[in-house]
Amino acid sequence: MGFRRKQIAGLTLVAAAVALATSLVNLTALVRFSVAETESRARFLAETLRHQASRVIRQTEPAELRSALTWDAALINYAEGIVGYSATTMYVAVTDRDGFALVHSNPLELGDKLTPAPSLESFVAKNPLAQLWELRQGHNVLEVAMPFDDGDGEPFGAVHVAISTLFLKEEIWNVVTQNVLLATSAVVAAFFASLFFANWLWAPIELLRRELGRFQPVDGEPPLDFQSESDVSRIAEFFASMSQRLDDQRSARENDASWLSTMLGGLSDAVLVFSNEGRVLSLNERAAELLGLGRDEIQGKLFADFFPEEHPVAEIVKTALEGDEPVGPVDKTIANGQRPVVYALSAQVLRDESGVSGVMVSARDMEKLSRLGSQLSYAQKLAALGKLTSGVAHEIKNPLNAMVIHVALLRERLKRASPETQASLDTLEKEIRRLDQVIQGFLRFTRPEDLQLTSVPLRELFDEVERLVSAEAKASGIEIETKVAEELPPVHGDRELLQQVFLNLVQNAEEAMPHGGRLHVEASRTEDGVEIVVADSGVGIEPEMLEKIFDLYVTTKKKGSGIGLSMVYRIVQLHGGEITVESEKGNGTRFTIHLPEMRA
Ligand SMILES: Nc1ncnc2c1ncn2[C@@H]1O[C@H](COP(=O)(O)OP(=O)(O)OP(=O)(O)O)[C@@H](O)[C@H]1O
Ligand SMILES: [Mg+2]
Repeated sequence: MGFRRKQIAGLTLVAAAVALATSLVNLTALVRFSVAETESRARFLAETLRHQASRVIRQTEPAELRSALTWDAALINYAEGIVGYSATTMYVAVTDRDGFALVHSNPLELGDKLTPAPSLESFVAKNPLAQLWELRQGHNVLEVAMPFDDGDGEPFGAVHVAISTLFLKEEIWNVVTQNVLLATSAVVAAFFASLFFANWLWAPIELLRRELGRFQPVDGEPPLDFQSESDVSRIAEFFASMSQRLDDQRSARENDASWLSTMLGGLSDAVLVFSNEGRVLSLNERAAELLGLGRDEIQGKLFADFFPEEHPVAEIVKTALEGDEPVGPVDKTIANGQRPVVYALSAQVLRDESGVSGVMVSARDMEKLSRLGSQLSYAQKLAALGKLTSGVAHEIKNPLNAMVIHVALLRERLKRASPETQASLDTLEKEIRRLDQVIQGFLRFTRPEDLQLTSVPLRELFDEVERLVSAEAKASGIEIETKVAEELPPVHGDRELLQQVFLNLVQNAEEAMPHGGRLHVEASRTEDGVEIVVADSGVGIEPEMLEKIFDLYVTTKKKGSGIGLSMVYRIVQLHGGEITVESEKGNGTRFTIHLPEMRA
């Protein structure tokens, strides 16, 4: 049965039950009242009749009592009068102990044995429903009988008053009909009222049905249709499946979001995704660094709550949204409370089916880029040079070897030559050897190295370097301070080459502090590897020199070859690392090496 029908049937039933109950209550009250009234009337008549009979008894001798009663005119008149004036009294009689009528309202019955009608008293004692039932069955006459004695206490007879129940029946039946009519109309009215209310109640559900119908069913799910009205529980099912779907969509979106943030996290550019109203929907760690905020601090918030309108990022978002087209890249300086950095900013307008949905801004650190670019070109140059020089060096080495041999031959032949000639020969030999050394260094530098990777404990390496240079350091009055972070993982690299790196750096530092100073060597752990700092309090480097110290053959020292730092650079590079230098003339120099974590 449909929801609506259930509702109508329920309401109608309730109305019917109420009508039936009130009718029954009414009816039983009426029956009780009418029956009680009838009884009291009958009792009253019986009492007065007995009174009349008592009067006769008092005036008469017991032996003549029968005839006295039979012939008492007042009593007879009274009995006939009762029946004559009352519509409901059928007969009244006075009987002797055996039930023979001494007085009777109907003279024809006199002297006959009275057939008593059913007792009104026992009828009264029954419950109203049983009374109703009996009335319907047609006990039309009920009587009240009251015994009396002969004046000496001996039972003599009884007075009888018989009442017709027809009137009672009629009266009650009228009310029953009325009640049935009333109840029926109440039920009909309830039916129509509930019909109206059902429609009224159903209207919002109908609206709901229509609205829900607009949702496309998922594959395998039957289309939503409440036409049958047969089951409102379908709505509940529908809601359950819809909320499940929403849940799925939400977790899919969350997956998307985490996927997006992982993807953005891997980019070297700072990336921010804005909604239409300028809310930061997503940003990567680099973007948070650029803004000088924590990622969680700004994610999901309005950009304008944190930064002024003139902030380069706010400006480019505005321009992109207004122009509805990509902007940039434009160079903008952004200072996040630290050193201002030049970024190339670009903005891309994001769209979905409903139009422009937001803006994606990316910022590229131009300084880092140019630094990387120069490192890259340097590496490329080195590689090209490596190939070239191994060929050229070979060409030079052969004649050099020949020259060494011929100088030795000349020396043999000019054994007795003048000291000047000997001195020229010495110079020739020395220069040839120097040339040979230069070529050796050059070859060593450019030769593509094969790394002998092992696990290198930095502490041991530092100790060894310190041991090698300590004598000289002591002589110049240099204080060496080595600090290796606890639990520093061993570096994966070529032990010999790494030792060469630190030896070169430490030697340079010592050479920069001829009159003593402090040398600080420190290794610490970073997010993705190890950072090593070699800092001295020496003479420092001029700015124009700083740019080229890693170049080959650049030196300011009389006996320097200018190969040391080039080697350092190359070795760090071979380990996939990075080296930077900071220095100020007269204020010391600080080299920072970053070695990425290398797996064996
Ligand atoms: N710690 C330092 N303090 C000041 N200047 C330095 C320092 N380290 C290097 N330099 C400068 O950089 C130049 C290049 O250094 P590099 O080690 O490449 O060559 P070098 O020390 O001159 O010669 P060598 O090949 O013998 O090492 C040095 O000549 C010096 O001017
Ligand atoms: Mg050096």
